[in-house]
Amino acid sequence: MREEGSHVIVLPFPGQGHITPMSQFCKRLASKGLKPTLFLVSDKPTPPYKTEHDSVTVFPIPNGFQEGEEPLQDLDDYMERVETSIKNSLPKLIEDMKLSGNRPKALVYDSTMPWLLDVAHSYGLRGAVFFTQPWLVTAIYYHVFKGSYSVPPTKYGHSTLASFPSFPMLNSNDLPSFLCESSSYPNILRIVVDQLSNIDRVDIVLCNTFDKLEEKVLKWVQSLWPVLNIGPMVPSMFLDKRLSEDKNYGFSLFNAKFTECIEWLNSKQPNSVVYVSFGSLVVLKEDQMMELAAGLKQTERFFLWVVRETETDKIPRNFVEEIGEKGLIVSWSPQLEVLAHKSIGCFLTHCGWNSMSEGLSLGVPMIGMPHWTDQPTNTKFMEDVWKVGVRVKAEDDGLVRREEIVKRVGEVMEGEKGKEMRKNAEKWKVLAREAVSEGGSSDKSINEFVSMFW
Ligand code: UDX
Repeated sequence: MREEGSHVIVLPFPGQGHITPMSQFCKRLASKGLKPTLFLVSDKPTPPYKTEHDSVTVFPIPNGFQEGEEPLQDLDDYMERVETSIKNSLPKLIEDMKLSGNRPKALVYDSTMPWLLDVAHSYGLRGAVFFTQPWLVTAIYYHVFKGSYSVPPTKYGHSTLASFPSFPMLNSNDLPSFLCESSSYPNILRIVVDQLSNIDRVDIVLCNTFDKLEEKVLKWVQSLWPVLNIGPMVPSMFLDKRLSEDKNYGFSLFNAKFTECIEWLNSKQPNSVVYVSFGSLVVLKEDQMMELAAGLKQTERFFLWVVRETETDKIPRNFVEEIGEKGLIVSWSPQLEVLAHKSIGCFLTHCGWNSMSEGLSLGVPMIGMPHWTDQPTNTKFMEDVWKVGVRVKAEDDGLVRREEIVKRVGEVMEGEKGKEMRKNAEKWKVLAREAVSEGGSSDKSINEFVSMFW
């Protein structure tokens, strides 16, 4: 017997790169008849509310910090505070849900909080881990966890190549950063490796990727765990068409920045604009910002550059006046709408997994300027395996110079190599769309997940 509208809880780590794909997953579940509750760890929890069309209940829960309290600098302390707070509030919320006749059947939790598996099991819920990073990164962490790959002592002291089953050879610049710079981020290394600590006991393993994208690695992970690839977590309306000059987009995201960005893009020729964004966390050094700004200007192309408010004081003086009509700098962009816009010719990105899967899904060639975490490995695959872009080369001092930016932008925006990348990007766009369309691999995986709880 099907119990219509079965209830599942979804709990992302409190960061943009995690909340975005997991809330999108909630929408997909709701569209297939489940009733998801999205628990959002927040510093100012508000009462629960429903999203548009009442499909998802959003339930803000406290992160354990008092209002006005300075955020903890030490990541371990921060994670511990969040863990304690969730462990204090979650059991009661689950009990209340049971009492009100809305018993949750599963807890879908972020892979960076593996301790939630035991919480789920102790309250009779199935535990589904959600990886917001691709398999190609998780597989490497697994080898580190198992001890079959030892972390080299320093980035520059270790020049040998790393070889993993089903992977191209990786050099130290292609490895997830915490592996190469383990001494700089010992606690982050532990957190990322810990994601795999109890994976052998997890009931369902979800990943924001799609089968064709990681075919080789997938075979191997599927032999180990009950894997369901459910990505890319990009709203399907963006996969259906590139936006035209049509002013009436019909999206609820309509706001000032949206209008500003889109109107500016509307006035540009197809494939003429470089879109530049480094996600929600990357902090560039001042001299790197300077090189980037100078490089963008020297390309003499149009560019839309997202510089978060906390980074704006690093923009060189008079830059905005100097670039005039050539560039638009915004503190946040409606990235999906931007990437879907036909005037975008390439995406200069830090290769965070969400940004990369958005670029891939929308057929935009990329220039990778990875910063840390999984970004170097994502970039390696983008350039050498999916062949949809290039990586900028940093000099020995770690800086990417303006000339390099000019060169790479030219490479992607014009010439034979650029055409080839655009063709490949189009190919991946089609495959991504197939995966999430009815009957596609990710769509089937979501159906399989849903059928477990009906
Ligand atoms: C990080 C890691 O880089 C990522 O690989 C990991 O798996 C999750 O955490 P982040 O650095 O924020 O995430 O980058 P990314 O994964 O690219 O996510 C950023 C999200 O913010 C994207 O969905 C992007 O569309 C959105 N965004 C970014 C905007 O909507 N507007 C902007 O101006 C910038």
